[in-house]
Amino acid sequence: MSVLVVGGAGYIGSHAVHQLLDQGKQPVVVDNLLTGHRESLPKGAVFYEGDVRDREFMRNVFKRKRIRQVMMFAAHSLVGESVKKPLQYYDNNVFGTQVLLETMIEAGVRDIVFSSTAAVYGEPEEVPITEAAPTAPKSPYGETKLAMEKMMKWCEKAHGLRYISLRYFNVAGARPGGLIGEDHNPETHLVPIILEAALGKREGITVLGEDYPTPDGTCIRDYIHVEDLIAAHLQALHYLKKGGPSDIFNLGSSEGFSVKEMIEAARDVTGKDIPVHSGERRAGDPARLIASSEKAKKVLGWEPKRTDIHTTIKDAWNWHSKNPQGYGGRLI
Ligand code: UFG
Repeated sequence: MSVLVVGGAGYIGSHAVHQLLDQGKQPVVVDNLLTGHRESLPKGAVFYEGDVRDREFMRNVFKRKRIRQVMMFAAHSLVGESVKKPLQYYDNNVFGTQVLLETMIEAGVRDIVFSSTAAVYGEPEEVPITEAAPTAPKSPYGETKLAMEKMMKWCEKAHGLRYISLRYFNVAGARPGGLIGEDHNPETHLVPIILEAALGKREGITVLGEDYPTPDGTCIRDYIHVEDLIAAHLQALHYLKKGGPSDIFNLGSSEGFSVKEMIEAARDVTGKDIPVHSGERRAGDPARLIASSEKAKKVLGWEPKRTDIHTTIKDAWNWHSKNPQGYGGRLI
């Protein structure tokens, strides 16, 4: 029996594929390679190149392989871009999930672990944020993820689907060893941008706002190591397999670091001088996002192992310094 990993050639999905193989499971990857990288896939993974919105393609995947459970990572995921191109986000994210659920239900596959986001909470009323906090997305990206969660909820009632939705905070780091890691074009995320500056690929890093109501004036975020994040996904698959009910969990470290603290930590880890410039606030950035992940710990038995900020940056640095051009046609 196989686990279907939709979006398995992306940054986060590819880490799931590697960990599934580590655990002796058989991953079947679907990815349209718009933002994913074929080179991130290990030899043991079965790969079908195609789009989750293509019903016939998805039907064929379910026909060809005996899929037992599904992990869904495929989505557009840039907050700023989503504000400019909302319909593209609804099409890819919401319609893509609709087709996936339709073809899963047709094929009699019931379990799905879903990649959701802290962006469903918008500007939080209080931190740490628990799963009981009100949802009030501030962007089409957050809205589409919330719509996808609700779609699964209604499919549970109508068709017996069972889902675990994992709301990620800021994901960073890479698989130790430096074989796979983060490679986006364009890159908008803080950790890879800082490390590209350390490598000399960028002139420096621009701090987007220094007048937030935080101790040093820069935004505070909760950074979780991608390997720990994926460990929670595998525990969620197991939980569903054992008959656990559908549920929603936050995944973060429960600790907050400011942009300036992240730059300082990256200087420590890399030993490089990282030039810093002051910039304007980026629209839609909340001042402070910190997760409460107590529920995932209690219910799934999740315990992050590599999520301290130095290990996270060190693992990311290992990937970036070994692969300064990203995947760039490399075969593994
Ligand atoms: N930042 C900078 N300079 C940069 C890039 C980022 O100062 O060049 C700052 C941002 O303003 C923000 C922090 O670094 O305060 C982190 O920014 P990221 O872009 O790395 O991450 P976000 O917090 O914006 O986004 C993350 C996820 C999204 C998710 C969102 C929820 O990447 O998928 O959290 O709010 F939707």
